[in-house]
Amino acid sequence: MLKRKMNEETKINKVPVTFLGIETSCDETAAAVVRRDADGRGKILSNVVHSQINEHSAYGGVVPEIAARAHVEVLDMMIAEALDRANVGLAGLDGIAVTAGPGLIGGLLVGLTTAKTLALVHDKPFIALNHLEAHALTVGLSHGLQPPYLLLLVSGGHTQTLIVKGVGSYERLGTTLDDALGEAFDKTAKLLGLDYPGGPEVERWAARGDAERFSLPRPMKGREELHFSFAGLKTALRQQAKSIEPLDDQDISDLCASFERAVTETVSDRVVRAMSAYLERTGHDAPRHLVVAGGVAANKSLRSALQENAAAAGFDICIPPSELCTDNGAMIAWAGIERYSQGWIDGFEFEAKARWPLDPDAQAAMGAGVKA
Ligand code: KG4
Ligand code: ZN
Repeated sequence: MLKRKMNEETKINKVPVTFLGIETSCDETAAAVVRRDADGRGKILSNVVHSQINEHSAYGGVVPEIAARAHVEVLDMMIAEALDRANVGLAGLDGIAVTAGPGLIGGLLVGLTTAKTLALVHDKPFIALNHLEAHALTVGLSHGLQPPYLLLLVSGGHTQTLIVKGVGSYERLGTTLDDALGEAFDKTAKLLGLDYPGGPEVERWAARGDAERFSLPRPMKGREELHFSFAGLKTALRQQAKSIEPLDDQDISDLCASFERAVTETVSDRVVRAMSAYLERTGHDAPRHLVVAGGVAANKSLRSALQENAAAAGFDICIPPSELCTDNGAMIAWAGIERYSQGWIDGFEFEAKARWPLDPDAQAAMGAGVKA
């Protein structure tokens, strides 16, 4: 395990704090400059994102080698643009933060090497971040919300409920045993011949569909343990689609609507249980905030179901705007500021990690493979 250095001087005084954040863990190349002012609130000075959707769409998913090459091609320009838009030179930064994992190793190496080089040459503090921690702390930037809170993280690579206790302190409640939720949307879209990324496409088609037409399973619903599973749902959908081939537009819409309904009910059930688990572990007088982050948080049916569930349990729901829910550099810069302000700085020996659970003490979920 690599050592992290505590930096007592910075822990106390430095305001405002301005960081560059770099993100290359998956298929978005992103750079941003964020400043935290004396009142503790964050201000996004720039936030530029280059999505590689076009490069990957023909394959129905992210191709790691293509992703890494695409990051190499654009990252320097993205950083220059982020600094330019923020009207901040490298000399004006208090530090540089970068995603060091989890993610696709080729992309991570591109971001990490660039960030280390800039920090070394310009003599700036360097922070190597867990991408999931950045998602987890984004509400501090968007809403000024500080821990503790319950987090539902639903993206293309992760589906987890976590208690965010403080910066660097996370307790995982549930994780997926197989596919991540966004991945389930993407695979469903691919099966039905829809575009990538599949989530927004499935949502669009579902809007014209009959959610009652196909009876699909609600995996894990009612189970005591807090995990998720989506592989069975995807298989059931494939079987039902095959049984009515060839599909017309209405069939596709009905399949999408039925899928979205099944997902929404399943996730709702898991989150209701997670809210109880949060109160049991944190205390019934703990602040009741449910934070939803990750690309799938853009889904309107899911959002409104979660809103109802939260209200019924006396929780506020807090969802960052969609440009901060999907992968971006601002969340990296912000999480870098949070860590730096608490006295953390990383050494240049820090290596990229394809797998990096936020809660190292969480028990491996049966069958969860690398996604736990
Ligand atoms: O957080 P994100 O941008 O990237 C990852 O870190 O994975 O999430 C991308 C995922 C994709 O799987 C995409 O299909 C899904 O979020 N997604 C949606 C919606 N918008 C994006 N899923 C369902 N409904 C949406 N509206
Ligand atoms: Zn992400």
